[in-house]
Amino acid sequence: MNAQIRPASDPEFIRLAGETIRMGGLVAFPTETVYGLGCDAFNPDAAAKIFEAKQRPQFDPLIVHVADRTQLATVVTALTSTAQQLIDQFWPGPLTLVLPKQLTIPDLVTAGLETVAVRMPNHPVAHALIREAGTPIAAPSANPFGYVSPTTAQHVADGLGSMIDLILDGGPCPVGVESTIVSLVGPQAELLRPGSITLEQLSAVIGPVRRSSSVIDQPTAPGQLARHYATQTPVKILPFDKTRPTLQHNERAGLLIFSQTSATDERFAAIEVLSITGDLREAAHHLFAALRRLDAQGLDRIYVEPCHEEGLGMAIMDRLRRCAAL
Ligand code: TXA
Ligand code: MG
Repeated sequence: MNAQIRPASDPEFIRLAGETIRMGGLVAFPTETVYGLGCDAFNPDAAAKIFEAKQRPQFDPLIVHVADRTQLATVVTALTSTAQQLIDQFWPGPLTLVLPKQLTIPDLVTAGLETVAVRMPNHPVAHALIREAGTPIAAPSANPFGYVSPTTAQHVADGLGSMIDLILDGGPCPVGVESTIVSLVGPQAELLRPGSITLEQLSAVIGPVRRSSSVIDQPTAPGQLARHYATQTPVKILPFDKTRPTLQHNERAGLLIFSQTSATDERFAAIEVLSITGDLREAAHHLFAALRRLDAQGLDRIYVEPCHEEGLGMAIMDRLRRCAAL
């Protein structure tokens, strides 16, 4: 099996993709954050294929994607008022909530936890696929475990093409980093993974949100693993003062920068500028594709200039630090 990339603009492929999900197959599809590798959330055999395809450890639970509140009710038990407020404010959108699960969700999907991570994506193709399948869709990011998430259909094909039945191409993902994950099962809301819905936005709606320590031994979200979202090439984050690194003799280095501040530096074999104007939304949108391009060049090292960890900058630096962790 070698998955063909199919245009999501053709309703025939949405129909075929929905049927594939119902039959227990795997479909990669675009969301507003990154591409997901989806299966029927109620089918444990299909979920097993996802773990196999990604070579993902089975202690790492999947996110369940729903199209509407009726489907949500089949995934989680009663919603607290905090959950309700976040849903009203941010769904459909890049916010995943960890809530008590319905027993019909297979243990494999939630790695045996009594909770389930759920979100309603804000992307017309994701929405159309879930509706066509007629079932919530469990989907991790569509990349081999630990590697950079895919933001184009071609990224999916490059990493997992031979393991998937169908790849729906809906163009590049607008947001570019994975959803914000908030757990609502403890006494206080807890941010498990920063994303484009910022801590500031969350707090404005539900008050204080605890930030889980970023590197912990027993991660509840393996997105919390120190080394994750990683390139093959070693990554080094530079200090804030914008001094460029001293390269070693014969070192072939890449440079990733947030804005076009200074003249190009000819010592680098490749330079990626995430946003000419330093706009963080644009930077997030380009981040993973830029890392992949640098990673494909067989460089000795990728140097990264940091951005401020405010708003979306928190999610971007979180991903870059995990990329740089040894
Ligand atoms: O933007 C996204 O969230 C993308 C798109 C496809 O929706 N999905 C995504 O999935 O990033 P994945 O599997 O790569 O990351 C999901 C994270 C994992 O770190 C997992 O451990 C965590 O969610 N997670 C899932 N269920 C959980 C649960 N019940 N409790 C705590 N963490 C959970
Ligand atoms: Mg992932």
